[in-house]
Amino acid sequence: MPQTLIDDIELGYTDVGSGPPLVLIHGYPFDRTLWTEQINTLSDTHRVIAPDLRGFGESETANTEASMSGMARDVASLMDHLGVDRAVIGGLSMGGYVAFAFYRQYPERVKALVLADTRPQADTEEGKQTRREQSQKALAEGMAGIADSMLPKLLTPETVSKRPELVKRIRDMMLRTKPAGAAGALLAMATRDDQTPILKGISVPTLILVGRDDAITPLKDSERMHAEIPGSRLAILENAGHVSNLEQTERFNSELLSFLKEIGA
Ligand code: MLT
Repeated sequence: MPQTLIDDIELGYTDVGSGPPLVLIHGYPFDRTLWTEQINTLSDTHRVIAPDLRGFGESETANTEASMSGMARDVASLMDHLGVDRAVIGGLSMGGYVAFAFYRQYPERVKALVLADTRPQADTEEGKQTRREQSQKALAEGMAGIADSMLPKLLTPETVSKRPELVKRIRDMMLRTKPAGAAGALLAMATRDDQTPILKGISVPTLILVGRDDAITPLKDSERMHAEIPGSRLAILENAGHVSNLEQTERFNSELLSFLKEIGA
């Protein structure tokens, strides 16, 4: 699997297919294999680039503090490395926070946005405190406790009971995450900017996807983004929770493909 030196760290990534470029940014505490089904389908028609964010998957963890804007800079540096000036930038959950940061820093490099199971607002004070505690917990105890407490919130109860192989895959992905990477990302999410002030000014085509039963970034956050981002499209995926791309893969892919077709990307 390819890796490249971005600033201070080796970054793992996938770059497959040819056609209009689409960058897919994973959420927390996952890695780029979150996107395997999207990569497999969309690479028939698109050049799909999926990085492992710093601290995740095959990417190294830096000694410096992580931030959403730093992760967005990594994505831009990877695009430079791959000779991609402008792309559709998509992210799920924390990947969406990074996509917002990317749009703020490099609006000219964004052909369109795909915001999946994410939200624009920053954490509440209570939320920030929980992040700090989780960060300590990850470092002290590893990922098992975090994975077990997150799993029921990531998936619908039906997925949990009927799709043990998917539950295992997601749990394994979380267990592979380096505690230091997770801890850094938790602190980075706690200090992320509030993006609600920029919503009305987003001037690129935007697709918002959300599982109807998303318990982490609930439907109302997506409805708010849809109401405020001019001309945005909202796709609500039935029978899906927070990782809607894995729970309702076909619907997710078809919404994404039809959006890309409509905007000529
Ligand atoms: C994610 O899926 O990236 C995280 O759950 C997002 C968050 O905790 O805010």
